[in-house]
Amino acid sequence: MGQPEQPEGVEESTGAQRPPLRVGMVGYAFMGAAHSQGWRTAGRVFDLPLRPELAVICGRDAAAVRAAADRHGWAAAETDWRDLIARDDVDLVDICTPGDSHAEIALAALAAGKHVLCEKPLANTVEEAEAMASAAETAYERGQLAMVGFNYRRVPATALARQMVADGRIGTLRHVRVSYLQDWLVDPQAPLTWRLRRELAGSGSLGDLGAHIVDLAQYLAGEPLAGVSALTETFVRERPLPGGAARGLSAATAAGTGQVTVDDAALFTGRFASGALASFEATRYATGRKNALRLELNGARGSLAFDLERLNELWFHDGTEPDTHAGFRRILVTEPDHPYVEAWWPPGHGLGYEHTFVHQARDLVHAVAEGRRPDPSFADGLQVQRVLAAVEESAEKNSVYTPIAV
Ligand SMILES: NC(=O)c1ccc[n+]([C@@H]2O[C@H](COP(=O)([O-])OP(=O)(O)OC[C@H]3O[C@@H](n4cnc5c(N)ncnc54)[C@H](O)[C@@H]3O)[C@@H](O)[C@H]2O)c1
Repeated sequence: MGQPEQPEGVEESTGAQRPPLRVGMVGYAFMGAAHSQGWRTAGRVFDLPLRPELAVICGRDAAAVRAAADRHGWAAAETDWRDLIARDDVDLVDICTPGDSHAEIALAALAAGKHVLCEKPLANTVEEAEAMASAAETAYERGQLAMVGFNYRRVPATALARQMVADGRIGTLRHVRVSYLQDWLVDPQAPLTWRLRRELAGSGSLGDLGAHIVDLAQYLAGEPLAGVSALTETFVRERPLPGGAARGLSAATAAGTGQVTVDDAALFTGRFASGALASFEATRYATGRKNALRLELNGARGSLAFDLERLNELWFHDGTEPDTHAGFRRILVTEPDHPYVEAWWPPGHGLGYEHTFVHQARDLVHAVAEGRRPDPSFADGLQVQRVLAAVEESAEKNSVYTPIAV
């Protein structure tokens, strides 16, 4: 699992003289806006070997996609992703749609010779993810890359945590404790948006939030999970139908109700081959918690802790220090020597959520220019999908320990 490389220095120009990497993006709502920000900004902040160009954006509503193109800075707009893929002025297809269309779009884009960035979870089923990983492997032989959008690897503090684990700063890993807590479904009148429908989202909190923390836990541990035991629950089984387009996680309601067909919460424990134990909690019912991705790693020599709601901070306990003055201390991850930070602001000036998408674009551009496999690859996305499937299987079988397929 790769570490972000530090750029040589801050470039004064916008890299206009560099060859372009022409991006075509499908979907223009929440992730579409975040990825637009990433593609727009990466080449202005980092010294990149290729210049990301916001070439074409795609959505199904002609007027709405044109407005999104203007707002986010895209040169052209299409209303069918097949037309976007068919264009010869697109080098990379960025998939920002719900999971039900990831496989079809990614497979077509790879077959058409494009690089692909696909939002998480990679697909809605293991079978789809297998087809995508296999197509990505074949495409790699032709020089095409495929990456999955687990952007929380690109928070400077989580990237630093990975470096510290790899450097042995916390010693042999014993515990990985991760939770991802949101509360936007606490209200039983919150509408039945696509995230609550299995045929569109694949699963609920599990695939949406659980996919992130499974990837992050494995990335930080440096190894895959071997097996899991799980509980899942759907607390509110019927909700008002949505009215109009969703905004972020919310939407207006319309007359009538429909069935929630995904989990509302997923709790599971896991085991790594090394013997370390992990626990996971993913929920949209943690009243008061907005986007609290929290993790703690305990090793034989020390511990690390992180909370996405305070994302410039990493907490470190060095267990080799004398008990008299040992304790968790806060590392403010804003120094130029910290991952990704050199190109940004002076120490203490802080980064936020959106910067993870700039870093994602930066890392993918480097991988494309160097022709090397990006992290996380579609194979990594498939492996996470297998963990999600094992969680569902275990939950269906009264939490029986379920090995992760390889
Ligand atoms: N990395 C993260 O932190 C993060 C955060 C949120 C969502 N996501 C993932 O991003 C993806 C999109 O989620 P979102 O929150 O942006 O959803 P959203 O509802 O805000 O946006 C989805 C977009 O896809 C478009 N769309 C749907 N089907 C389409 C089709 N067939 N052709 C063209 N456009 C189509 C919609 O019109 C909309 O613009 C999902 O896979 C989700 O899990 C990732």
